[in-house]
Amino acid sequence: MDKLLIEGGVRLQGEVAMSGAKNAALPILCAALLTRDPVTFTNVPQLNDIATLLKLIGQMGVKVERDGDAVTLDASGLDNPVAPYELVKTMRASILVLGPLVARCGEARVSLPGGCAIGARPVDQHIKGLQAMGAEVSVEHGYVHAVATRLKGARLFTDMVTVTGTENLMMAACLADGDTVIENAAREPEVADLAHCLIAMGADISGVGTDMIRIRGVERLHGATHRVMPDRIETGTYLCAIAATGGDGRLTGTSASYLEAVIDKLTDAGCRIDTEPDAIRLRAPARLKAVNLRTAPYPAFPTDMQAQFMALNAVADGTAVIRETIFENRFMHAVELQRLGADIGIDGNTAVVQGVASLQGATVMATDLRASASLVIAGLVAEGETVIERIYHLDRGYERLEEKLARLGAHARRIH
Ligand code: EPZ
Repeated sequence: MDKLLIEGGVRLQGEVAMSGAKNAALPILCAALLTRDPVTFTNVPQLNDIATLLKLIGQMGVKVERDGDAVTLDASGLDNPVAPYELVKTMRASILVLGPLVARCGEARVSLPGGCAIGARPVDQHIKGLQAMGAEVSVEHGYVHAVATRLKGARLFTDMVTVTGTENLMMAACLADGDTVIENAAREPEVADLAHCLIAMGADISGVGTDMIRIRGVERLHGATHRVMPDRIETGTYLCAIAATGGDGRLTGTSASYLEAVIDKLTDAGCRIDTEPDAIRLRAPARLKAVNLRTAPYPAFPTDMQAQFMALNAVADGTAVIRETIFENRFMHAVELQRLGADIGIDGNTAVVQGVASLQGATVMATDLRASASLVIAGLVAEGETVIERIYHLDRGYERLEEKLARLGAHARRIH
C-alpha cells in the first residue's frame, strides 16, 4: 500500500488550483440515469470515488466517456438497475443510484452501503422517503430492493438533515406523478449544485438552497451540460494547511461563498483572508490562536472540516473545544495526532485540544478521508519526517495531492 512521506517545518507559499467538488460530482453523475439523452459534466475531479461510481454506472448498461475533467454519460442503454455489493462496499455514496433507478426503471436493487470508520451511516431516511412516494421497498440479504410502477409526489420530512438522503429523494421526485415537498432538506451547496443540474435537464424544482425543496414531477428529463462546483472541503483543507504552517497561499478556481463558517474560524485563529470571485488568499501569523468549534449542517461549521481544524488547533496558542454533532465516531484522527505529540482529550463527542509548542514527526495511519487530511496537515508542521500509511483514503477525495502540496512548497512524496 502507498505511503506519504512528509518533511515538516516548511511554510506553505504560492498558488494552486482547486478541483471540482467530489460530493457534488457523485450525485450529479447519478442524475444522468434519469434520462435517455446523453449528459455532459465538466470540472469532474479525477478521484478513486468518481472512478468507482463510473464503474458502477457502466455495469448497468450506461455508456461512459471520460475526457480530462469532462464526463459524458449516455443511459439510453440502461438495462441492469443493480448496484452490487463488491462495488458499493468500497464507496458508500453508491446509494445515490437508488432514487434515480426507481424513478427511471421502476425498480432498483442496491447493496446496503454498510458503515464506515466514522459511523453506522444508515440509509433509513432514503428508504422511508421512497416508501412515502409509493415504492415497495424491502431489505433482504444486504440489498435494498425497491419497486414502483411510477412514484407519486408526496410531502416528505426527514428525521434529521441528510445530504445524500435529500439528494436521492430529490432525484426520485423529478419523474414522479405530482408534486413532492422535502421538508428539513439539507442546504449543503452540493445539494443546490445537483438541483441546478437537474433543472438544466428539465426538472421543475424550487426552494433550492433552502430547507424546503419543492419538486413538480415531469414526464421525462433531457440531456444537458453542467459544470461541477468547486470543492469547498478541498479548499478548506488547503487553507488549513497554509494556516497551520504560518504560510501565505492563494487558491484559485474556487469560491469563498460556501465557506463562511470555515473562513470565520480561520479569521478568529488570526489569519488574514482576502477573497476574489474565484480565488481565496490566506496569510497566517507565525502562531495561530486556538478556536472552538461545533459541527452542524450547512451553513454551520462542516463536519468534513473538523479533523483538519483539530490538527490546526494542536499547534495553536490556547485550548480549543471541538464538538462533533453529526457522526458518532469522527475522532479517529485524535489518537494518530497524539502519536505526533498533540495534547488531545476525548470525552464522547467532545475533544479538548491543548496547543503544544511543536509536533514531532512519526509514522501514523489514515483511517478515513478527512482524518487522513488532518494527518497531512500535522505532518506539514511537525519537526522531522512523518510517514502516513494507508493513503488510499486520501486518494478518494484529494486529486493530485502531492502535486498540489509541492506547488505550495511542501516536501511531500508518495512511496509505493
Ligand atoms: C454526506 O454524507 C457527505 N458525503 C459526507 O462527506 C458528509 O460528512 C456528510 O454528508 C455530512 O455533511 C457525500 O455527500 C457523498 P448524512 P451522508 O446523510 O449523506 C444520519 C466526505 O468526507 N443518517 O448527511 O452519508 C447519519 O448517520 C464524506 O466527503 C441517518 O441516520 O451524510 C449521520 O449521523 C464523509 N439515516 C447524519 O444523519 C439516514 O438515512 C448525517 O448524515 C441518513 C443519515
